[in-house]
Parts: sequence; C-alpha cells; structure tokens
Amino acid sequence: MITDNTSLQLEKVVPAADDFLPLLGTDYVELYVGNAKQAAHYYQSAWGFQPLAYAGLETGVRDRVSYVLEQDKIRLILTSPLDADGPINAHINAHGDGVKVIALWVDDATKSWQETTKRGAVSYMEPRTVEDKDGKVVYSGIETYGETVHIFVERKDYNGTFLPGYRAWNPEYKPTPTGLRYVDHMVGNVGWNEMNKWCEFYAKVMGFAQLVSFDDKDISTEYTALMSKVMSNGNGRIKFPINEPAEGRKKSQIEEYIDFYNGAGVQHMALATDNIIETVTALKERGVEFLYVPETYYDTVLDRVGQIDEDLAPLKKLGILIDRDDEGYLLQLFTKPVLDRPTMFFEIIQRKGAKSFGKGNFQALFESIEREQEARGTL
Ligand code: FE2
Repeated sequence: MITDNTSLQLEKVVPAADDFLPLLGTDYVELYVGNAKQAAHYYQSAWGFQPLAYAGLETGVRDRVSYVLEQDKIRLILTSPLDADGPINAHINAHGDGVKVIALWVDDATKSWQETTKRGAVSYMEPRTVEDKDGKVVYSGIETYGETVHIFVERKDYNGTFLPGYRAWNPEYKPTPTGLRYVDHMVGNVGWNEMNKWCEFYAKVMGFAQLVSFDDKDISTEYTALMSKVMSNGNGRIKFPINEPAEGRKKSQIEEYIDFYNGAGVQHMALATDNIIETVTALKERGVEFLYVPETYYDTVLDRVGQIDEDLAPLKKLGILIDRDDEGYLLQLFTKPVLDRPTMFFEIIQRKGAKSFGKGNFQALFESIEREQEARGTL
C-alpha cells in the first residue's frame, strides 16, 4: 500500500487572498430524473430528506417540475420535464436519471463567471439576476465534465424559502431525518485518459489544488482498476475526486459507468454524518441497499487502523469500512447504484480527524463492486 504523502492542509497551499474563486459551500445538487414526484418520495422516505420547495405548473413554470429537499446543509433538486422534447428530456434520454448541476454558493456570481470564463471555462449561463418579493439572487454557470454544469449562486440579498420562482412545499408526509449533514465530496467519472485534463480544468479554471492521487498500482490488478485524483478548492470546503478507468484483468467499474451513462458524469455523492452507525441503521431499515463487505475484512482491520472509539460489532454488522491517515480515521460505506442504470450511488462518511478518502478500503470495496458487476454480466 502506498501511503498518502500529499499535504492535506490546503489553506497553506492556496492563501485565501490569492483565491480568485472563493466558494462558501455546495449550494444544491440538481438531478434530472424521469419522475420527480416519485423520486422525491424516495428521498423523503428512504433517506429522510425534508420537503422544502416546489416549482411547476402551479407556480407558473410550464416546461418542468422541481421538488427541493433538504437535510441539514444538503439540498437536492429533483427536476422532470413536462414537455415532449427539450434539453431535460435529451439529458434523461442519454444518461438516465443523473446529476445535472453541482451548484456552488458564492458571494459574487458575476465575478465567479468572469474569473472562470477568462481562464477557459465554457459558459453555461451568463450572469443574470432573478427577483421576487423575498429579494434577489444572481446566477451564472459554467460547463464541466460530460453534460454536468456548475451554477454559481449568489444569495446574500435573498430571504425566501429557497430561490425565486419556488414556493414553500409543506406536505403532511415528513419521515424523520437520518442524520445526514453536508456534502463531503462529489466524485466525477471521466473517460479513458481524461482524468488529467479535468484535474487541470479544476486547477487552472477554478483555482483548485490536488490533494491526493491513486493509481492502478494502489490496488491489485486482480480487481477492477481505476485512477483517481482529488481536487479541492482553496478553503477545502469543496472536494471533487476525478476517476478514469484503468486497464485491469476485469472491466473497470468506471468503464461500466461510462457505458451506461453514455459519457462522463457524477459517480457518487458522499454525505457526512456525525453518527454513521445510527445513520446507516436507519437507512437500511428504510430500504437503502449497501455494498456487501466480506466478514473477513473485520478480522484484520484493527491491525491496519489501530484503536477506534466505536465497538467493532455494530460496524461489522452494518458492513461499515474503516481507514486511517496521519490526522485520524474515517468510517465509510457505499450504497449500490440508486438508479436503474448502474451509474450513480451514495457514500455515507463519518470523519474522525481523517481528511483522506478511504484508500485503504479500495481492495475490499472493489471486490464487492466486482461481485455486483458479475451479477450484471458487465465484468
Ligand atoms: Fe468518495
């Protein structure tokens, strides 16, 4: 196993004064889906997201319907088209359900657009101001890998429920939250030999720095191979690992994703919790399916990671993985794909000091993914 020797202290790498794209956090993640009403029910009932806002025919929108859900700092928008063609239909036709927008919360959406487009970003949306009785929001946007986009959201002059054009959505049905708190990182899968191109995009266009890299030597060639680099913005609030397929004896899980998504896109969203045992217990009770981890993983895991605060028994029962770096340890677990196509999934993560991404778990994880691919006949 190669050890992480990269600095995880990004504040020292990118002084705040030199950060031309200060990001305050993830504003929302928007998925284009075939049936937003039913998807919203799934994220409420299975994941404990709370209803927040709605836009559609009743609010004067004619071509789409959007449900907004939140859990602590995480906001999801689920959007479906109401017309027969148009860009949302085209996106769903090509990719199935998937992430269209990773929206970033900024102080100045106009400057964010200017700074990124002058460094080579392709504009998705020129800066525009949208107002309603609760104030105004400035948006702008740029394209990233595949058909995925970043929208910059400047909301400092807005006091409404969510964004202009949305009304509060307050149904009676409100299953309890499951303890999910914020987006820890969002991972992109890109095509063969495209990882460095997109890492350079985040470095040059958005001022990100590289935190960590893994290559195919980090994992046994017996398993489905990939290469990965983690890019982070200056204050470390936004982390985007980028994966590309690598040659192995079996078909790369990244290649399987690219085949079914028809190109690059978001592979997984990692959601943080302060109590992974409670969160995963609740998610499992509500029907969320996780990757299976062989019980033998727990025979040796403490030799590798040392002392941890939690009892091993509940971690083993739930299949929660453990990894350690120089600064602490982390607990993590991955769902099976949550869509019909084997594309997007979720990670649940609890950080106890560690700032890394669970490289020590790759092998156990890949064995598990490989079993799933075998069942799908795509290995
Ligand atoms: Fe992850």
